Amino acid sequence: MFSSRVASDLTPNRLSAALDRFRQAGIEFDDLTESNPTSAGLHYPARLLDALASPEALSYAPQPFGLPSARDAVVADFRRRGVAVPRDRVVLTASTSEAYSLLFKLLCDAGDDVLVPAPSYPLFDYLAALDSVRVRPYRLDHHGAWSIDIDGLKRATTDRTRAVIVVNPNNPTGSYLKRAELDALAGHCRAHGLALIGDEVFSEYVLDADLPRTCSVLAQREALTFGLGGLSKSLGLPQLKLGWMVVSGPDDLIKPALERLELICDTYLSVATPVQVGLPALLAAGASVRTQIRERVTRNYRALIAAAPRFPSVGVLQSEGGWYAVIQVPAMQTEESLVLQLLEQDRVLAHPGYFFDFPREAFLVVSLLPRPDVFDRATNRLLARVEAAE
Ligand SMILES: Cc1ncc(COP(=O)(O)O)c(C=O)c1O
Repeated sequence: MFSSRVASDLTPNRLSAALDRFRQAGIEFDDLTESNPTSAGLHYPARLLDALASPEALSYAPQPFGLPSARDAVVADFRRRGVAVPRDRVVLTASTSEAYSLLFKLLCDAGDDVLVPAPSYPLFDYLAALDSVRVRPYRLDHHGAWSIDIDGLKRATTDRTRAVIVVNPNNPTGSYLKRAELDALAGHCRAHGLALIGDEVFSEYVLDADLPRTCSVLAQREALTFGLGGLSKSLGLPQLKLGWMVVSGPDDLIKPALERLELICDTYLSVATPVQVGLPALLAAGASVRTQIRERVTRNYRALIAAAPRFPSVGVLQSEGGWYAVIQVPAMQTEESLVLQLLEQDRVLAHPGYFFDFPREAFLVVSLLPRPDVFDRATNRLLARVEAAE
């Protein structure tokens, strides 16, 4: 009866089953997978959401790409970051996840494919499947620093490939796209008629300001490009459901892309009016939350780097940006059994590397968002457990 877009086997894996048991029994644990900023003990200004109650939001004047005032607010926010974006190239969405779905509808027929980085954000498989699109991974290699396997990406391209997705900085490796990589990707996309989709939701969370990085996928005009962002990460407000994409590239491709996107967006009109009306005020008043998140993730990343040398069998991989850190651990047991042991014996939850499609075991991924006391306690337990297993 049901579509194959959703897998038929919905049995939880061992880790989800263990977590369900913990939650049902009310057993507390330190959550190093916490990626919800509203649960991380940050201070949100009490009147932050007042802007949503503006009487202006009582009238409904639907616009496929969003209200001009809200799109102007996104333009101004890009200007703050030194990027010039014309308003007619800004499209509002309910989230980055929705932006992916809109782009798959714009670019792909059922059975077409998109290239996705590995290791990276685990949701791509699900997002693509829900639009009957296939994902083909291309590798990020780690040689002290992460880099895109450009030759592998070229080999992964088929005659059904429609787009290359990059995450900048990538989740969870924290690696920013480098200028030479951007040029190679844009050239490849241009040559093969592919779009470049740049997920830049974490772009403002620089962990290591000394490393070379490009500012944005929008820094080239060769390929039809979509730069994605949103309030969920930029202001730590995932519950407001507002994201954006910026369309750039050659003029002869932008026009037909926008015409088609307008039809798709007009079919859903999914962004609520109050958040659009409130956007200029939110972007101004929410900056303090971004500052707190930046301070939090930087502090936790440095604390982890400082703690690691006491545990010689582990290595914390260098991260340039984002909300995550990657810990390499000896492959004495599977990542799954290590993560289960950490949960059951140490009351610490971390992500296994396979969740993000690392090429081999063993890696753990931890969120840098938790409160510092929780983060230090949990990472110290985690590192001690790994060291004891050696
Ligand atoms: C790389 C990446 N893109 C997008 C998202 C989700 O963004 P949104 O809440 O706007 O859908 C996440 C969430 O963790 C993410 O890690």
